[in-house]
Amino acid sequence: MSHEVVEKNIGLMAILIAIVISVAGLVQIVPLFFQAEATKPLPGIEPYDAIRLAGRDVYVREGCYACHSQMIRPFRAETERYGHYSVAGEFVYDRPFQWGSKRTGPDLARVGGRYTDLWHYVHLMNPREVVPESNMPAYPWLDERYVNGERVARSMRAKQRFLGVPYSDEQIAEAPAKLDGVTEMQALIAYLQGLGTVLPERR
Ligand code: HEC
Repeated sequence: MSHEVVEKNIGLMAILIAIVISVAGLVQIVPLFFQAEATKPLPGIEPYDAIRLAGRDVYVREGCYACHSQMIRPFRAETERYGHYSVAGEFVYDRPFQWGSKRTGPDLARVGGRYTDLWHYVHLMNPREVVPESNMPAYPWLDERYVNGERVARSMRAKQRFLGVPYSDEQIAEAPAKLDGVTEMQALIAYLQGLGTVLPERR
């Protein structure tokens, strides 16, 4: 009979459904907060240095994630093509993460070191120069715009202060000088070349 009460009272039912879903969700989510595997950086993973952080901002601004994922799933077809599957400890300093959900182009989680800087430059200026059938857009303006070093330094400071990213004060102080005269193109390529270069131990 008590079931009938719930079924005839939509407000009560909604509340009970919310409780059931919350408990089920918490059971899955809460343990992750305490798992070192999910919260500690993988050995060798460092916070993004100034130039790569600047490049990452360009990546986000240009919406590269709309066509590229950065998340290799633990399936044979993926690991054969892209390399070791992604693990949580690789993304500790990724805020926001760039896992993406759409692969119009290939996954980029381990693209670092796969091509030369020059290849990336030509490809970003006009993808069709190196991959004739490519439908990726060209990004020539990145070669004419300069990175704003002050802004990157402020971003590093905020990450240090509020998110606990272990930047040293020197790293932050020297960021503007390091980024002086660096184009968005150079920063983006530095970012791409660092992607996935620290590999998890083979398991
Ligand atoms: C409209 C979808 C689209 C967008 C947006 C896009 N790409 Fe691509 N990208 C592709 C496709 C398709 C390919 C495969 C063909 C090629 O290599 O050009 C590709 C290939 C690549 C590759 C080579 C990957 C490999 O393993 O061969 C890199 C690196 C890359 N893109 C970087 C970027 C960056 C950086 C941005 C943002 C500035 C971007 N892409 C935006 C579609 C896209």
